Parts: sequence; structure tokens; C-alpha cells
Amino acid sequence: MEDMEIKEEQTFETEDTTETSTLPYREGEDYLLEVNHLKVYFEVLGGHVKAVDDVSFAMKPGETLGLVGESGCGKTTTAFAINRLLPSNGNIIGGYIKYKGKIIGEKDPEVTGLFKDRKKRNIYREREAMMAPIRWKEISMIFQSAMNAFNPVHKIGNQIVEAILAHEDVTQEEALERAKKLFKVVGLPPGRVVGYPHEFSGGMRQRAMIAMALACNPSLLIADEPTTALDVIMQDRILAEIKRLQKKLGIAMIIITHDVSVVAETADRMLVMYAGKMMEYGDIGELFHRPAHPYTIGLLGSFPSIKGEKKKLKSIPGSPPDLVNPPSGCRFHPRCKFAKPKCMEEEPALIEVAENHWAACHFAREIYSGELKEE
Ligand SMILES: Nc1ncnc2c1ncn2[C@@H]1O[C@H](COP(=O)(O)OP(=O)(O)O)[C@@H](O)[C@H]1O
Ligand code: SF4
Ligand SMILES: [Mg+2]
Repeated sequence: MEDMEIKEEQTFETEDTTETSTLPYREGEDYLLEVNHLKVYFEVLGGHVKAVDDVSFAMKPGETLGLVGESGCGKTTTAFAINRLLPSNGNIIGGYIKYKGKIIGEKDPEVTGLFKDRKKRNIYREREAMMAPIRWKEISMIFQSAMNAFNPVHKIGNQIVEAILAHEDVTQEEALERAKKLFKVVGLPPGRVVGYPHEFSGGMRQRAMIAMALACNPSLLIADEPTTALDVIMQDRILAEIKRLQKKLGIAMIIITHDVSVVAETADRMLVMYAGKMMEYGDIGELFHRPAHPYTIGLLGSFPSIKGEKKKLKSIPGSPPDLVNPPSGCRFHPRCKFAKPKCMEEEPALIEVAENHWAACHFAREIYSGELKEE
């Protein structure tokens, strides 16, 4: 009977059978963070949502990466995989994540049947124990919704104090002093540390979230759409604040957004995702001035020019695909203005069109050289 149970569970294992593409960074260098051919799938009724499907990038200390793409393309899932915060139906099914040279994420046993299987349960426990000292202390996160990030029944200051005490050998008073200082740093009155989350406005909560993310002096900050919920003026102010603090403290940052204008001034590099796949990756100047991927061209077309000229905002026609059964070949082909028959059949490889500039399109070289243009 026990044997049968195990067999049944094994049929749920998702095999990573697809070929992996080229790695867009040199292995063996000293990186702060390395994401290597990462694949994260969600188990759902009727199959798997292929939310992150072969994503690779590497960051050095202090660098800023802009992770951009339309809603649902896998940005938050990538961030959650890095911080080991995936929901119970989400699993890393291929690739790995290294932080300061040490693996912090790799293929997990799938959740199905997990609690019947002691071995799988132990693997989860071990990995969770390894990640606990890293989360917040080394890699912290500003969540998409600060509303959900705080526990509504505890004072915000106490939650920041708890985070500090969990990682550092300081007294309660010292931690509270630090929380107050952080409030000041992010532009909140220090006296408000005794407030509850519901007593804060959206903008204040977002600032408190930034204070919490900075509380343990992390080396890497992941800011997941940190300002989307706010009005435009507040967005600019908070972004400027994050950027100022990040530079001052020398923190590396992944800034996640669906809005390319946010990364234009903030990031050193940009990674463009579409439907779980990486489309283009490289130095920000290259990608903004000479995009080699039709999807990036579309995204930039829906963004007023950096030079300040007024441009009519366009959106890319069509809607994002179903990630349980994604389109064949290039996942972008149903919406791509450059698509040819080959695009429906063959998945494009990541091509290095210039130094530190990669694009996953069959025609990336022709687009980059200007031989192929949008009609
Ligand atoms: N817990 C979940 N179960 C099933 N599918 C999910 C889950 N969380 C996210 N997804 C799906 O994974 C894909 C990527 O989501 P997400 O990473 O949140 O995208 P983004 O942050 O780019 O908007 C989407 O298709 C989303 O619907
Ligand atoms: S591979 Fe084809 S469909 Fe995909 S982006 Fe390039 S031209 Fe468009
Ligand atoms: Mg998201």
C-alpha cells in the first residue's frame, strides 16, 4: 500500500525536460546574486502555470536591476523564489539561486503528498532553516501591497523591532531607537512607530514598509512595484527616497515594475520578461537606445521618450497568454509585429547582440543592426 502511494505521488513530479538556453553572464565571478536557469511552476487544476521558465541573471554588490514586463509575466514569482516565499502550490522545478556563492534555492520536492512523505518534509524544513537568517537580514523585500505586509493587530514599530531582534543581538530599547531613526530616514514622524497599520495612509504604510526593509541593513533589496498603489506625486517621492537610501547605504536592488519609466533612471541593467520567459537583458543604455527585441520595442513605445518629447502612449495590442498552455515556439508570437512562420515552431535562443546585451528573438541581430524595422 505504501509503495503504491509513493508511485502515485511520483507521477505528479514535474520533469524539467526542456533544453536550457545560453547563460547571459559569465559563471565563476563573484556575484552577490546569481539566478541560473530558474524555473518556477504553480500546480493548478488541469496542469502547471509556467510562471518563470528559464530566467537567468547575475548581480554584483550595489547594482540595480530593473525587472520589467506586463502584469502576470512572472516578476513577483521570481522575487518570491529568491526569498523562498513561494505559496504552497509553487515550486522551483529547475535551475538554482545562489546568494554570495551559496545555493539558497534549487529544485524542491513537489508539494503534492508532501505531508505524507517524511523525507520531502525534512528537505523543506532544512531549506527553510537555511533561509531564515538570510531573509530580511541579507535579502529584504518591499512588497507590492504594504497593506498585506504588516500584521494588522500589531503596532508597526513593534513589527520592525521584532524583525531587528530576530536577526541581531541588540536590546529591545536599541531596536526601538533604530526603528524611530528609520522612520525619520523615510520621512515619517518617529512618534508614529506606536501606530497600527490601519492608522497609516497608503503612502505612510509604504514608507513604513521601506523602513522595515532597511531595518537589518540588507545587502539586497527587492522592491516589488513599491509605488503602484500610490498617486503619481507620491510615487515619484517614494521612488526618489528608495533610490537615495539605496545609493547611500550601498545596497543592491531589484526594482520590479510594469512601468519602464521607473527603471529608466533607477537601474544599471534591465531584464524584460514576457509570459515567464526572458525576452531581453542587458545594460540600461543599450536596451533603451537600441532594443533588439520586438517586445521591448513595444514596451518602450508605450513610454514617453526619455528626452522629454511628448509621445503618444501606445499599448501593445493583444493580451498576455495562458501560462498553463503557452503559445508554441516564441511565446510572444501571437502579438508580435515581426513574427514569421518559424516563430510559431521554434523557441528562440538568447542571442548576445552586443557586449552585455542579450535578446531572445530569431531576428534579434537584424533588429539590432537596423536591417529589420517596424513597419
Ligand atoms: N499561487 C498561484 N497559483 C497559481 N498561479 C499563480 C499563483 N501565483 C501567481 N500565479 C500565476 O503566475 C503567473 C505569474 O504571476 P506573477 O509572478 O504574480 O506575475 P507579475 O508579478 O509579473 O504580475 C501569473 O499567470 C499568475 O496568475
Ligand atoms: S522570435 Fe519571432 S515572434 Fe518572437 S519576438 Fe522574435 S520575431 Fe517576434
Ligand atoms: Mg507582481
